[in-house]
Amino acid sequence: MCKPLWKKRLLAVLVLCFGVQTMLVYSDARSEPLSEVALNGRALWHRHACQTCHQFYGQGGFLGPDLTNAASRVDSARLVSLLQVGSGQMPALHLDETEIAAVAAFLEGMDRPDLGRGQLRLGREGEPGGIQSAFDRAVTEALSEDGGRATAGYAALQTRPCAICHFPFRQSPVGAPDLSMVADRLSPDSITAVLTEGRPQLGMPPPIPALTEEERAGVMAYFEFLNVRRSALEARASELSVRRSLDWRALPWWEYR
Ligand code: HEC
Ligand code: HEC
Repeated sequence: MCKPLWKKRLLAVLVLCFGVQTMLVYSDARSEPLSEVALNGRALWHRHACQTCHQFYGQGGFLGPDLTNAASRVDSARLVSLLQVGSGQMPALHLDETEIAAVAAFLEGMDRPDLGRGQLRLGREGEPGGIQSAFDRAVTEALSEDGGRATAGYAALQTRPCAICHFPFRQSPVGAPDLSMVADRLSPDSITAVLTEGRPQLGMPPPIPALTEEERAGVMAYFEFLNVRRSALEARASELSVRRSLDWRALPWWEYR
């Protein structure tokens, strides 16, 4: 049997849990609210089901491009023409001037590089992406300064699928090591052996197509280059890479009104 004191304590604990839960729910980080005009734009966004063809932060349909950063990419003349007469598979929606301004304000409110970037399917060339493309950009920059023979080595590796297994600055899930450490870890002879025969029994296939002697020399120079500039490259790559994870609650998208 429960004694009355025990019951009171249980009740107190339950009340406390409820209080803490309520506090957590209402203390979510929220972004600045959208302006009145932007809220009208969001209503139009829902009414015309833009999301069925477009994505925000990677979520939505895929017939049209990701619009996360459309505000900084699409100029107003093009937006007017798109929202009135359409383009290709983008239907003619015949929005009037006020409606277009509202949609523009909503797109503006959703474009928050501080929160994350969209998957720019029709994005600009060279738009920063994940760590691999950030690494490639950092390396290309550094090589263009004083790459020497390493430039040819990097080019030789770019035409082979090394990056499927070898990730920048960390070991990959298949156990392929960070290649920026190789020059430190292995003697030139062992590197030559790996670049010629691979280590098939350990999951490292021989390079296909095989590297010529000259390409191998370039690759060695490239490994040296990576080794010497490792920390500068890592810093630059992390600067160029883009955070894809996102605090969804901070997006004005989720508040319906
Ligand atoms: C039936 C699918 C569909 C719907 C619904 C749709 N769009 Fe589109 N939209 C597209 C396609 C496809 C394109 C690419 C057209 C092109 O490039 O010629 C596009 C292009 C755009 C672009 C230009 C993007 C860029 O990066 O160039 C904007 C902005 C845009 N749409 C906004 C909207 C808005 C706002 C709505 C809702 C009011 C909407 N769209 C509804 C399919 C759609
Ligand atoms: C299918 C996955 C895969 C591919 C593709 C691949 N590697 Fe490897 N690589 C590995 C694995 C796994 C190891 C570690 C083998 C071991 O345990 O010794 C490795 C090891 C190496 C090593 C020795 C590193 C060390 O520190 O011991 C070098 C150098 C290397 N790979 C270069 C390359 C190059 C250059 C390419 C492209 C031509 C390439 N790899 C493509 C999986 C791969």
